Parts: sequence; C-alpha cells; structure tokens
Amino acid sequence: MASATTEMDCCVGRTRPSSMGMEAAPAWAEVVRKGLARSPKQLPPWLFYDEAGSLLFERITSLPEYYLTRLERGILTASAGEMIAAAADGLRLRLVELGAGSADKTRLLLAAALAHQGRVSYHPVDVSQTALEAACQRIATELPGVDTAPIIADYTTGWGLPDDPEESERQLLLWIGSSIGNFEPEAATELLTRVNASMRQGDALLLGVDLAPAAGGKSEAELVAAYDDAAGVTAAFNRNLLARLNRELGAEFQPDEFVHRAVWNAADSRMEMHLESRTAQRVWIEALDLDVEFAAGERLHTENSYKYGLDGAAELMARAGFPVVDRWLDRNGWFAVMLGRKS
Ligand code: AVJ
Repeated sequence: MASATTEMDCCVGRTRPSSMGMEAAPAWAEVVRKGLARSPKQLPPWLFYDEAGSLLFERITSLPEYYLTRLERGILTASAGEMIAAAADGLRLRLVELGAGSADKTRLLLAAALAHQGRVSYHPVDVSQTALEAACQRIATELPGVDTAPIIADYTTGWGLPDDPEESERQLLLWIGSSIGNFEPEAATELLTRVNASMRQGDALLLGVDLAPAAGGKSEAELVAAYDDAAGVTAAFNRNLLARLNRELGAEFQPDEFVHRAVWNAADSRMEMHLESRTAQRVWIEALDLDVEFAAGERLHTENSYKYGLDGAAELMARAGFPVVDRWLDRNGWFAVMLGRKS
C-alpha cells in the first residue's frame, strides 16, 4: 500500500508518561500532535493503514462504487502485454514498484513480463514487511520465473533504486493504483524527479491515474459515491483513524461522534475526506498529554485524492522527466494507465 505524504522520519518517538504503564509511543505521535495543532486540523492519510485499516481498504477495493481498482485491473488485464512490450522497446525489463502492497494487480504485469522475456526481476518497495512477505510468497508459487527482491522502505523518503541493472536491461518503474492522488502535485513531481535522476535514458514509468470528472467521463456524483459508499465501508475506514489513535496513543475518541464527509473540491481537483465533529467536544490523548477541542461541525481533514485530466497527468510526467509515449484507458475514460520514458 502506498503510504506517506508527510515526513515519516522527521519525528522522534516519545515515551508515554509512566502512569500509562505502556511502551513508548509510536514515532508518528508527533505527526499527530502537529496535525491537530493546525487550523483546520489535518492528519496524513498514511495513518489509515494499521492492520484494521488495511483490511478495510481491501474491502473498499471490491465495493461496487469504488471503480478505481476494478477499472485499473481491467485495463491491465486487457493491455499488460502491450504495456510491457512498449516499455521494453526491444530490450529486457526489470520492474521496480512504489508502494507494492499486496501486488495483486502487479501480477498481471509480471505475467506479461515473463511471457516477454522468460525471467524477470521484480523489486517491490513498501513500508509494510508483512504485505511484502505475503506478496513474495504468492508470486513465488504463481509466477516462479519472477525473482523478487523486496525493499522495505518508505518510498517518499530515503531509499534508492537497487543496484544498476545490466546494460541490456531497462527499468520500468510502476506507480499504479492511483497512489499518486494522495500527494500534492508538487510533491509527486518532486518524488518522480528524484527517482528519474538515478534512472537511465530509455527507462520507463507506468503510472495509474484516476481521472477528474469531465464531460463524457465520470460525473461528480459517481466520483463522490466512490468515497461515500452505501455500505459505509469508507466511513468505517475514515473513522478507524480515530480508533487507531485510541489503540496506539491511548486517546479517548468516540468515533461515532464524528461524521464521515467526502467532498469534491473542484478548485483543487481533489476528493477530500473529513471527519466532522457532531458536537462541541474535548478529547484526551494520553500519549501526547493533550486535550484536543472540537467545535460542533468542525472538521478534521484526513485525506486528499487528487484527480488529473489526461493533459495534466502528461504535464506532470513530462516535468518529472518521463514524457508520455503511450496510454491506455477504460472504455468510458474514467481511469488511465500512462507510460512515460526518460529521454
Ligand atoms: C489508495 C490513495 C488510491 O485515494 O482512492 C480509498 C485511498 N481513500 N477510499 C484513494 C482511499 C478512500 C485510495 N488510494
């Protein structure tokens, strides 16, 4: 699963007050303190993904309203062979994936790479060791020609590409799942620029992009529904953040005292998720030794998911050094997988 939008390595873990009788607070506790001190209050979306949150996200990906995963899988199923051939452009490929998570959709590309060249080395980068282990095991049984070399790291901060590939190999960087949406456009550009700098001419980027609502494409209502499903799974995913603070920081949130809000911000071309306080309330957070006040109706901003037009996505890729050479869309033009190449 893709993670950080904020500095995960910026903060030093603090020890909980001894009265709590628990181990040290997690390193991200100070991220929470800073986020709650902001106005409006805001926490980074990578905090969603504890064990319960990761399970809830898995459930989101198969909701009828959440078209992103389904459409991207359809595009990859139809065109993985073409994507691999286009990226390889006559050479052999090595695959590096940002935020690989369960690598579920990636297996379509790995299978296509095997068909293309017999063996392939695959370097998934993810913060979650357990997710990487599960992904590696599944790939080992289902795709034995894949040599998997996982990299446990936060791809937004300090990590480097694995050792130089052979002269005859191109690298294909995968950033799929619309994970780019969680980043400010400038931060996404910066991240891709940084990776691009250590790649060679001819190396490629395959980017999965959820497209902004537009005439002929998805409507605003269809987009909002993807983040506010009828079964309430996304609401539970959002509220789980508070439950996590209760579990890991000894906080005393009552998650049901907050309403799930999913809002399309047209001016910034992003979906936003918020937790809105039903009442005026004060919440104690033991590990931070902090009382947080919420006014009735006050919102805690928990996520941005930026949406791009085809031109906007292409501009971002070009700015990062990967001008677009090919792209694949679902039949309705809701989701795009774009291939860029370092020139
Ligand atoms: C994992 C960032 C692609 O923004 O659509 C799903 C996370 N948030 N439902 C997205 C998410 C609410 C998802 N990404």
